[in-house]
Amino acid sequence: MSHYKAKFASFGMHVPKKVVNNFDLEKIVDTTDEWIRTRTGMFERHHCTKDEAATDIAVVAATKAIESSQVKYKDIDLIITATVTGDYNFPSASCILQKRLGLGRIPAFDISAGCTGFVYALDMAKQYVENGTKQNVLVTGVDILTKITNWKDRGTCVLFGDGAGSTIVTRAERSDISEIMDSITFADGSLGDLLIQEGGGSRRPASHETVDQNLHTIYMEGNKIYRHAIKSMQASTEELLKRNKMTARDVDWVIPHQANLRIIEGLADKLRVPMDKVIVNIEKYGNTSSATIPMAMAEAVGSSKIRRGDIILLTSFGAGLTWGSILARY
Ligand code: UT7
Repeated sequence: MSHYKAKFASFGMHVPKKVVNNFDLEKIVDTTDEWIRTRTGMFERHHCTKDEAATDIAVVAATKAIESSQVKYKDIDLIITATVTGDYNFPSASCILQKRLGLGRIPAFDISAGCTGFVYALDMAKQYVENGTKQNVLVTGVDILTKITNWKDRGTCVLFGDGAGSTIVTRAERSDISEIMDSITFADGSLGDLLIQEGGGSRRPASHETVDQNLHTIYMEGNKIYRHAIKSMQASTEELLKRNKMTARDVDWVIPHQANLRIIEGLADKLRVPMDKVIVNIEKYGNTSSATIPMAMAEAVGSSKIRRGDIILLTSFGAGLTWGSILARY
């Protein structure tokens, strides 16, 4: 039994300045604008420069989220960041964000759940707020996958962009219409090899050999993940809706992970949700991993497409493999 309700106070997003479109990629690998558009729905993505790292963009997204909420900096009492590409293996991106935002000695930690990271982080933040332990949690999804991209692998290098999105999960009054109603998360570690960065961990520490073999870059079996993606997001969404005695017809907006437009359309079809209720911005940003959902939320809230009181459904899948969904009234 939860003591309190949790809600989204606000969202903020940020991407690096440098824009790389499909025609730019044609000059790097054997690909075409036509292939990328028709197979993925992507056209542009933003890339960090050599000197930019995860917290450089996360700090801007977090600042926007904080300043567009009623929450004061001094009242934030926990930081959770979803990322697989923090500035360093350690310390965590959350600890660096705490320092850069001047947030005092509040607890701060990162979680690793690939592209599902933001959904996992929200699931946690919601519980901290509901049980009364924390009141205002800064939750960020940030990934700089272009720093771990294999630029010789056309099957992956065209897909990823860099970005950050943040929200404040805050305590809601009982009378408040806004609420994070429910969340559900899953993992299947037996499928971990389908999407993996093999080098740089304790199994294959960095060495000349691991660098020569490109083991510090992303290895992905795209079409195996593709098949799993639609099924897993559909199953977690349907289970979540069912236990809340709702159907997809009750949902005003679906905000899915932006990995591939065909996956998004396939999911909408399975859920029988028309595409005009699905938030899509993949053509502008590509796949920004844990940042896709908070970035899409920040844009949709910023343009008043999503309004207070709307029922929203966030759903994602990613490395692990992991997947999950969040049901909320914004
Ligand atoms: O966020 C979670 C991370 N994971 C994902 O998002 C992965 C989800 N998977 C996907 O989005 C899709 O599987 C991809 C976009 C990665 C690939 O699309 P696909 O329709 O599954 O293509 P495929 O891998 O089956 O490859 C089809 C063909 C192959 O050529 P052949 O063997 O048929 O001659 C590939 O070599 O397309 C070729 N291909 C390309 N051609 C031009 C693969 N990448 C490219 C490319 N440009 N960039």
